[in-house]
Amino acid sequence: MQLTAYRIALMPGDGIGPEVVGEAVKIGSTVLESLGVSTFFEKFPNGAEHYLKTGETLSEERLGKLKGFDAIFFGAVGDPRVKPGVLEKGILLKLRSSLDLYVNLRPVKLLKGVETPLKGFGPGDIDFVVIRENTEDFYVDMGGRVDAGSRLFEFTVNTGGAKGSRYRVEVGSSGGEAFQIGVISRKGAERIIRFGFEYAAKRGITLVTFVDKANVLTEAYGLWREMVEKIVGEYRGVVEAEFMYIDAAALHMVLNPRRFKVIVTPNMFGDILTDLGAAIQGGLGFAPSGNINPGGTSMFEPVHGSAPDKAGKNIANPTAAILTFSLMLEYLWSRSGDKRLLEASKIIEKAVENTLAAGRFKTVDMGGNARTSEMGDAILAEAERLVHSGR
Ligand code: NAD
Ligand code: IPM
Ligand code: MN
Repeated sequence: MQLTAYRIALMPGDGIGPEVVGEAVKIGSTVLESLGVSTFFEKFPNGAEHYLKTGETLSEERLGKLKGFDAIFFGAVGDPRVKPGVLEKGILLKLRSSLDLYVNLRPVKLLKGVETPLKGFGPGDIDFVVIRENTEDFYVDMGGRVDAGSRLFEFTVNTGGAKGSRYRVEVGSSGGEAFQIGVISRKGAERIIRFGFEYAAKRGITLVTFVDKANVLTEAYGLWREMVEKIVGEYRGVVEAEFMYIDAAALHMVLNPRRFKVIVTPNMFGDILTDLGAAIQGGLGFAPSGNINPGGTSMFEPVHGSAPDKAGKNIANPTAAILTFSLMLEYLWSRSGDKRLLEASKIIEKAVENTLAAGRFKTVDMGGNARTSEMGDAILAEAERLVHSGR
């Protein structure tokens, strides 16, 4: 029995973020309370409104404070009133790089009662996890615009395994160019590759698919492949590795999703592949994710963004956020060993599954007209029933 309270920072953010976070916290806190788990939630206002008022995206002071929490539960950022990238880079990517959240864990699971656009596939056919490297690649924020003439760019990498490395790029150009640098480091690749193998080994999964584009981006993804080849031997007889190019991976995810169990991939391809993953699991309304630093404070958020077209209307699907809360509790259990957290996580997941399978509540994205809060209430009622029936 744990006496101290689990400290969870809430960052609802923009658009539908506050609506879906509200539902997840409503359900999560009720289940935790019924199991006797004490929690302390503190809300942080960072997002478009706060930025427009104060100019702050995410200050160092606030970051420092966030590090004192057991986990961060995040909604989404992005707002039509703010230039693209300001909030995304200033808040979300800053969290990922500053807290060194190098694992982006994105389960892709089709649940009963949810329709996939893939013809002929049902629950059980689509059940894998994408482990996306979350701090390197084309996300290192190094690039520039070049006008005619010569110009020297100097960069210091401030994220991932190459943190602190300095790059000087001298461009002599006829003008009208832009460039962006992607960085893969041995350290950055090694830690995510190991995480992937460990993830599979712990679950009795015998094959990990490493997705890249080493046939074209031969330097960066060549190094990535070398690291896979270096590490795979340690898992001989337990887990095997296969390589697949990103283009082929996209094809197979649609034609034959059953062949995947664990995909490990660099940052940019992981971003794209997980929206495709969300699509085949029934939409962004169902896709949870964790941004994990196995040695520090981790951050959990649905894969979807702030969906400005649905914001403020109580029509967004809260399922992705609710499943994300469940994922967060499972992760906190794996760190603390507190079995009540695992139980709470399972109850929430089961409540989502039962509610969707019953088919009475469907949000707009599912072709129904249930409101965000109605869906949340239905899942909450099922969760309470599960708690009291002793499951
Ligand atoms: P989006 O994920 O917000 O929306 C894509 C589509 O999916 C939209 O049609 C939206 O209505 C729908 N959708 C998303 N979540 C839904 C839900 N829970 N229920 C029902 N429908 C849902 O992506 P976008 O439109 O490309 O981006 C909007 C803003 O969000 C941009 O500012 C973008 O940068 C930002 N963004 C933020 C995050 C994040 O904070 N993690 C992730 C992706 C995009
Ligand atoms: C995601 C989002 C982010 C990403 C954006 C908003 C910076 O698309 O979490 O998938 O590209 O990682
Ligand atoms: Mn994305």
